[in-house]
Amino acid sequence: MDDNLIIPKHVGIIMDGNGRWAKKRGLIRSMGHRAGADNLKELCLHMASVGVEYVSLYAFSTENFKREKKEVDFLMNLFVTLFKGEFQTIMDHNIRVVFSGRVFPLPKKVLQAMNYVSEKTCNNTGAVLNICLNYGSQSEIVDMTKQLCQDYKDGKIELDDIDPEFIQHHLYQDLPPLDFVIRTSGELRLSNFMLYQSSYAEFYFTDVLFPDFNTEEFDKAIVEFNQRNRKFGG
Ligand code: IPE
Ligand code: IPE
Ligand code: MG
Repeated sequence: MDDNLIIPKHVGIIMDGNGRWAKKRGLIRSMGHRAGADNLKELCLHMASVGVEYVSLYAFSTENFKREKKEVDFLMNLFVTLFKGEFQTIMDHNIRVVFSGRVFPLPKKVLQAMNYVSEKTCNNTGAVLNICLNYGSQSEIVDMTKQLCQDYKDGKIELDDIDPEFIQHHLYQDLPPLDFVIRTSGELRLSNFMLYQSSYAEFYFTDVLFPDFNTEEFDKAIVEFNQRNRKFGG
């Protein structure tokens, strides 16, 4: 990658198209999820190596529980396998893993694997990987609002404490705003991904299916990011 390119500090990826990738090959949907996971490792290491400081990955939405049980079960097992299997690589690269999303109704084995990686990596000082799992932006705003109302009732906060930065600090994770949101596989929507955090993000939509969205595709997206004129209302 060209050294003169500006690298976005916080990149979000809506990893879509695994099912279509499998269908094109006459495979079951779950094989697409496996292919997506295989692609993810190299992509994450590449993003960290070019200097992306924060990566938010949309792994499973609150709405994805509507899918067939066998697909949901496959994904839950895949998450456990990945968090355990890639743990050493994550440590070796000094990556801090955090999670965004609701606990209920995630299976216990998934929650245990999530707690293990987030606790063991909490002092790592390299890139931050925010995994959005059982995540929905609307649920996030609902959960935060309820907590803030409770804090107000308990006299812990005052009305004047609440401003845009305060809200940012009280979402599931206190991360800087998204600079760049990538969605693979041709859908032109956010599907409940980080609505508040993407207020001034640049968006990149590509027809490439997630399992095929490799490091070269990421580099192409970065070139495009560099052609955008970010104005922030000014
Ligand atoms: C994205 O791929 C992965 C998850 C939502 C977990 P999809 O499973 O949505 O793939 P398509 O959109 O059906 O191709
Ligand atoms: C968004 O993709 C969720 C993830 C990538 C995890 P979906 O495939 O669930 O979104 P829709 O249904 O096309 O909006
Ligand atoms: Mg999809």
